[in-house]
Amino acid sequence: MNALRTDFIACGGGPLRGEIRVAGDKSISHRSIMLGSIAEGVTEVEGFLEGEDSLATLAAFRAMGVRIDRPSSGRVTVHGVGLHGLRAPQSDLDLGNSGTSMRLLAGLLSGQPFDARLVGDASLTRRPMARVATPLREMGARIDTAEGGRPPLFIRGGARLRGIDYRMPVASAQVKSALLLAGLYAEGATTVVEPAPTRDHTERMLSGFGYRVRREGALAQLEGGGRLTGTHVHVPADISSAAFFLVAASISPGSEVLLKDVGINPTRIGVIGILRLMGASIEVVSERESGGEPVADLLVRGAALRGIEIPVDLVPLAIDEFPVLFIAAASAEGETRLRGAEELRVKESDRIEVMATGLRALGVELETFPDGIRIRGCGSFGGGAVDSCGDHRIAMAFSVASLRATGPIEIADCANVATSFPDFRSLAASIGLSVEERPAAPGHAA
Ligand code: S3P
Repeated sequence: MNALRTDFIACGGGPLRGEIRVAGDKSISHRSIMLGSIAEGVTEVEGFLEGEDSLATLAAFRAMGVRIDRPSSGRVTVHGVGLHGLRAPQSDLDLGNSGTSMRLLAGLLSGQPFDARLVGDASLTRRPMARVATPLREMGARIDTAEGGRPPLFIRGGARLRGIDYRMPVASAQVKSALLLAGLYAEGATTVVEPAPTRDHTERMLSGFGYRVRREGALAQLEGGGRLTGTHVHVPADISSAAFFLVAASISPGSEVLLKDVGINPTRIGVIGILRLMGASIEVVSERESGGEPVADLLVRGAALRGIEIPVDLVPLAIDEFPVLFIAAASAEGETRLRGAEELRVKESDRIEVMATGLRALGVELETFPDGIRIRGCGSFGGGAVDSCGDHRIAMAFSVASLRATGPIEIADCANVATSFPDFRSLAASIGLSVEERPAAPGHAA
């Protein structure tokens, strides 16, 4: 989505001090627009992430005839059109960098009477879509992909969907959600069984919209043909964005940062578990429930981290946090080993390879595996030049790394930070981490 390249120069700082509320949860923001649009009546959303990814979802539903008002920051009003009220878009739905938009929409659009073509940027166009297209076809959907199961996706309207029993081969909330959304339009029951727990925002939010979802252990099931009723959605702060400051404060001695109103859904808190195993000091305070999701403030203080073997069962619960967890590992004493994380290779970038290349450039010793990495923690490392390869989370992870670097870190290709955390730099600055932005030289496009 970002044609112009932007680089960051991270100059470190610290100790970090203050109270901040990070950006709204991306996963929940996407779902609030999707479910609000196909509900009957009005849905008021608060705390919506105004990042490019969730705005791509919002634009897609506007293009399908849904009136969506954005009166003030974080507040969105969705005038739902009901399960069968979407209209054919006049052109391709451009989902930018957002895998969640494309995969969840693939499910939802499989049950519509009209055709739709889903496209994305260069990164999204490299990402695997067969994981949703294959089970959706089993349900009767008519979906064409480009070669190798990649986008664009062409979804033909008018398919008659029937529920299936699907055992997911990968632990993916996007696949689970795509099938459940298609299941709303299917005859009979759609059942999804996951190999390990993944984020359950779709199931929770469907219930919040009054749609019955049966959940038993690894199984989620719903019957087609019901209706959703518009509601109020409170979007908590995104733990995946908070993670940058959980690590930043942990590795910066003398820090004390309070992260307000963070979603602590049990399927998302792997990062807290992993950092605590490494010796981090993170207190969960004022735990409460808001809009069907558990929320709390997180108080994090600087601590001496040690390397660990990351428990495999925490991997899906921290899947988006590994770039910054690798920075925690490099800042720790001793070795950290991660296995069972091959999914990292098909995120916005190949996060194992891109992080390894950047960490090596800073002088960190490591070894990669097809499904993980071993990082020799060295306390501090050099400054230097790294490339985020357009991956928002890698750009922010190396910004955090500058707190332990002996010189500035120049990070190339950072414009996509705006997909998930548009005010990252200003919030970082407000607690003592300095990250400058520099437009790339003219003619240098991403
Ligand atoms: C997401 C699910 C995860 C995650 C992504 C958001 C979601 O992807 O990495 O950032 O909102 O459902 P997978 O389902 O591919 O694991």
